[in-house]
Amino acid sequence: MRLDIFSLFPEAFDWLQTQRPVQNALREGNELRLFNYRDSAPPPSRKVDDSPYGGGAGMVLRVDIIDKALQDAYGEGKRPRIVLLTPTGRLLDDELADELVAEPHVAMLCGRYEGFDERIHEHLADDEVSIGRYVLAGGELPAMVVADVLMRKLPGALGNASSAAEDSYGQVLEGMPEYPHYTRPPVHRGWKVPEVLLSGDHEKIREWRLERSRERARAYAEATGEAHPKPAGGAQNSASRTE
Ligand SMILES: C[S@@+](CC[C@H](N)C(=O)[O-])C[C@H]1O[C@@H](n2cnc3c(N)ncnc32)[C@H](O)[C@@H]1O
Repeated sequence: MRLDIFSLFPEAFDWLQTQRPVQNALREGNELRLFNYRDSAPPPSRKVDDSPYGGGAGMVLRVDIIDKALQDAYGEGKRPRIVLLTPTGRLLDDELADELVAEPHVAMLCGRYEGFDERIHEHLADDEVSIGRYVLAGGELPAMVVADVLMRKLPGALGNASSAAEDSYGQVLEGMPEYPHYTRPPVHRGWKVPEVLLSGDHEKIREWRLERSRERARAYAEATGEAHPKPAGGAQNSASRTE
């Protein structure tokens, strides 16, 4: 997969690129490219925003600059799926992540200030994605969240021993939350690891884990009135990544 990120602060992604799953995914031939809107803004000011028509606080990212940034990156060629990061977009969940990771080429556009000129939403974007119903100062953290989610789903990103499909909300657990994990020591301040996990009985461990996932799904459904996120049913597949 090729993932492009457009931002005013591409250096914000330095840390992300040092992360093991991202490095693994890149080694497998995937690409993560960063673009700065300012490189497509006219010198000497390189201004990318302006005040809103009709008045009001803040600055708005200009449609001509964003259009030029996309033009500079892709020319007249085939465009990737263009995703605007917005607080009001489609909420990111595992299903949307699966949809995006199935695309060969995705571009994410990070907003800043008051956000994007509406014509960017209308004419340049294919999708709008939100990481939650709250407002951050910019799209860089949301883009990092999406990039992290997508990259760890790519084959080879997590190494051989594990796969994102086995995590919470993934296919193996049929969308349910993952079961609890424990490691050494077996007892700490009287807090014990459940006996079954020390039993060596893989079938019992598998059943125990599945039941814990179902309990978590039920608890979520009771607390919120929503299934978590798909109806909690019998995930009959292996619920263990260690077997
Ligand atoms: C300060 S926000 C703009 C908020 C906008 N004025 C509003 O009220 O909806 C600046 C940028 O941060 C990004 N952003 C902020 N919160 C986000 C969220 N929850 N999910 C995705 N992107 C977000 C978007 O790219 C947005 O254009």
